[in-house]
Amino acid sequence: MNTPRNTSERDARVTEISGQLAEIEQRLIPTGLHVFGRAAELKEKADLLRMVTSFDRPELGVRALPALVMEALDIESHKELAPGATTNEANELIDGIVSEAVRTFCDASTDAAVEWLYSRTGLDREQARPTFLLVAKVAQLLDDNHEMDSLLRALRGEYIEPGPGADIVQNPSVLPTGRNTHAINPYSVPSPIAFERARDTAAALLSRYMDEHGSYPRAMGLVLWGLDNIKTQGEGVAQALWLLGVRPVRDALNRATEVEIIPLAELGRPRIDVVMTVSGIFRDLFTPTMMLLDKAVRRVASLDEPLDLNYVRRNVQERIDAESATFDDAVTRVFSNAPGNYGTNVNFMVMQSEWREEASLGDLFVTRKCFAYTRDANGRNVEGREARQLMDNALARVQATYQNIDSFEVGITDVDHYFEYLGGISRAVETRAQTQPAIYLSDSLSAQGKIRSLKETVRLETRTKTLNPKWYEGMLKHGFRGVAEIENHVANTFGWSATTDAVDPWIYTEISKTFLLDEVMFQRLWELNPYSVTSLAKRLLEAHNRGYWNPDEEILEKLRDKIRELAHRSDAVSINA
Ligand code: BEZ
Ligand code: MG
Repeated sequence: MNTPRNTSERDARVTEISGQLAEIEQRLIPTGLHVFGRAAELKEKADLLRMVTSFDRPELGVRALPALVMEALDIESHKELAPGATTNEANELIDGIVSEAVRTFCDASTDAAVEWLYSRTGLDREQARPTFLLVAKVAQLLDDNHEMDSLLRALRGEYIEPGPGADIVQNPSVLPTGRNTHAINPYSVPSPIAFERARDTAAALLSRYMDEHGSYPRAMGLVLWGLDNIKTQGEGVAQALWLLGVRPVRDALNRATEVEIIPLAELGRPRIDVVMTVSGIFRDLFTPTMMLLDKAVRRVASLDEPLDLNYVRRNVQERIDAESATFDDAVTRVFSNAPGNYGTNVNFMVMQSEWREEASLGDLFVTRKCFAYTRDANGRNVEGREARQLMDNALARVQATYQNIDSFEVGITDVDHYFEYLGGISRAVETRAQTQPAIYLSDSLSAQGKIRSLKETVRLETRTKTLNPKWYEGMLKHGFRGVAEIENHVANTFGWSATTDAVDPWIYTEISKTFLLDEVMFQRLWELNPYSVTSLAKRLLEAHNRGYWNPDEEILEKLRDKIRELAHRSDAVSINA
């Protein structure tokens, strides 16, 4: 980081850093694994309840507590606390009050929390009460754990009540757990609320790209997953529709089977071309939605609009003119696995170190995902026709890739699926478009539908989880499994290097220092799980060997020593990790 040239640059830097610290501090950090049949602990409960209060829930008549506090304190927007005050100060004040109110609820009662808020901010007790009644209900349901009982009843072949599948914060009615999770009717997707929320996210995404590149992306590569679209009732789908500039239309049976064009004047920007790669689960659960998306692209490509305001039409026209492609081929944008197949296998290739050139990872993504779900010239459904050339062509125009992150619990380094999909498509774009795409993720943790670059998201995840003592000590309480989780995070971080180059080298240095070069920690990990600590050490060396990280020779030498030491110890106790 450069030294600031003057005081105003210095102040701006301090403000930015304090904003980042506040973001890290306020993030919900899972403090260990869920133990089947065991209710959440008080601390974990308090964190969850604070997040539950952060959202407007019009369907329950509940307003977001931060907004209520802001109004009570007469802060017009998060931007203005008092003349001269910064956004960060306002946010800190509001978040501090919300946290204290939730703590008061946990220690005492709804009445106490409502009373405390009134005395602190003047917030009308009757305005605050619905939020705390919801919090009280969620708190009680969190204690009400039927998981073991339900499992035993299921094994006896008894009836298990159904319950929706979602995230507690997004949809508290997933509680109590231990029910038979159900999905949603694919024809209901996207729901009106999902479509509304997606408008802001799509706008934030395009505005971020515009800020960084000075133009809109010619085309975007999107990843759509099934479970996410169940949880959000189709926010990912709705974002794709917004980018294209269409809204879903429901038929007489209330099924979203048609689209209506949003006029350019109302949209206020060009229609963005989107290449959609959908998971096998999405394909199975949302077959009608794939057809809706295909229909949307075709409708937009056929509009009589200026090419500089309709990038779908422009890209389709270019392919027809330059390569004599048919309209049906040039307009194909929805791709998934072959019928009956799932996943990209990019994660397996990375984890088993089975690649030489990074480009192979993108090629594997296309090999697995190049099956088109569209229509033929006679309007008949085509479900899974291998179309590698069409996918290569579509990806060659992509300038940005994106995935909607919907979960409070599962982030981009918790599982290998984010890098296999978003990383996989990004590498595939890189070789086909001859340039690295900009890579973005949304963040449902932020009520304003915040967009982050992949680099920023990797840093945030690393600071809040992998390198955060609160997170790794929570994991280490689970012994063998906890060490495996730490190693998973390191391997998934490595997966982002392999597929995107989005991992700052300091991340590998700090991981080495925290888990291997600290003797006490190293010994603890070894005793709990020698296999995982060995894999972790080898993965760090692989990151160096593949050019993702080039630390001081001293650190490298220590790392090699550790790997030799682990090999000796393993021989001594006959472990072959
Ligand atoms: C899905 O929900 O579509 C999905 C879940 C896990 C991995 C990949 C896809
Ligand atoms: Mg898995």
